[in-house]
Amino acid sequence: MVEEEIMRNTRSKEPLLTEIATHAISSGGKRMRPGIALLSFRAVGGTDLKKTIMAAAAFELIHSATLVHDDINDGAETRRGSIAAYRKYGTQRALITGDFLFVRGFRLGGLLQSEDIVELVADACSQMAESEMLQTIIENDSGLPFDTYFRIITGKTAKPIEASAQVGAYIGGGSPDQIAGMGTYGLNIGLAFQIVDDILDIIGDESDLGKKRGMDVLDGKANLPLMIAMQGHYPNSARLREIYGKKEKTMEEVEEALRLVQATDAVDVARKHAEDLRIKALASLDVLPESEFKDALKALADTVLSRDR
Ligand code: IPE
Ligand code: IPE
Ligand code: MG
Ligand code: MG
Repeated sequence: MVEEEIMRNTRSKEPLLTEIATHAISSGGKRMRPGIALLSFRAVGGTDLKKTIMAAAAFELIHSATLVHDDINDGAETRRGSIAAYRKYGTQRALITGDFLFVRGFRLGGLLQSEDIVELVADACSQMAESEMLQTIIENDSGLPFDTYFRIITGKTAKPIEASAQVGAYIGGGSPDQIAGMGTYGLNIGLAFQIVDDILDIIGDESDLGKKRGMDVLDGKANLPLMIAMQGHYPNSARLREIYGKKEKTMEEVEEALRLVQATDAVDVARKHAEDLRIKALASLDVLPESEFKDALKALADTVLSRDR
């Protein structure tokens, strides 16, 4: 039902716009944000499924919009196992399609006629934009403070996931405590999720991921294991800082940097951070009564840590 709602909202009078929107949204994707919204809704005892489906689809439309724009910003080649939208259709058309998907997502969320929901989602998206902006300012900075890193991933990834969980619980008629608890769950899962995304950028399998490895090194983007390896006292730290600090890097240098990070325990240290966040997320589920939906939220937290795509 969520998929149908998504597809209804990607149709345009302009066939090319429908084509690019469909390319971006139906080429795959884990649908984690809609999944979290639906589970939060059920976990607080929600019954009005229609509204939640609209909200869940809205989150995926907005998320897909950010991915279309993100690939332009990051110079990515592939996304969700397919060629990135801007590579196939050009930057102008991808920009327009991203805006279109954003607006369709916001429209759908607006139809729920709740000022609270609009406020929450708009706030999450504003923070995402602020973090994406900050990330451009700190590009290639090998001495990036860890608190700045956490500020970036909070905005770019955790806030929208927090909002998905909160909105699901809100529509489900959860108590203020339950809505807040689900928010804490979403925020911590979101942070862990981005740390794992960073780890996969260093050690992931490209065909599982559906996107290229080493992009963060190449682009000088914030990446936790890379920062740990670069700023620690490892034999390779100085060489890593040298590579990362360059504005232009060759693919050989990127591959070398990946090998140097892999030769340290930085991936394990980063995974430990993600694990701590998972435990925080699980603790916040105490506001929920026992149910199969609560169990599914726990299982989802495990999947975030163990995922390879
Ligand atoms: C990718 O999100 C962007 C990040 C915040 C890391 P996902 O990994 O959820 O992407 P899809 O939706 O499954 O393609
Ligand atoms: C994605 O961050 C966050 C947003 C789309 C706002 P990344 O740039 O780290 O995600 P991937 O690795 O390209 O999916
Ligand atoms: Mg990217
Ligand atoms: Mg990015």
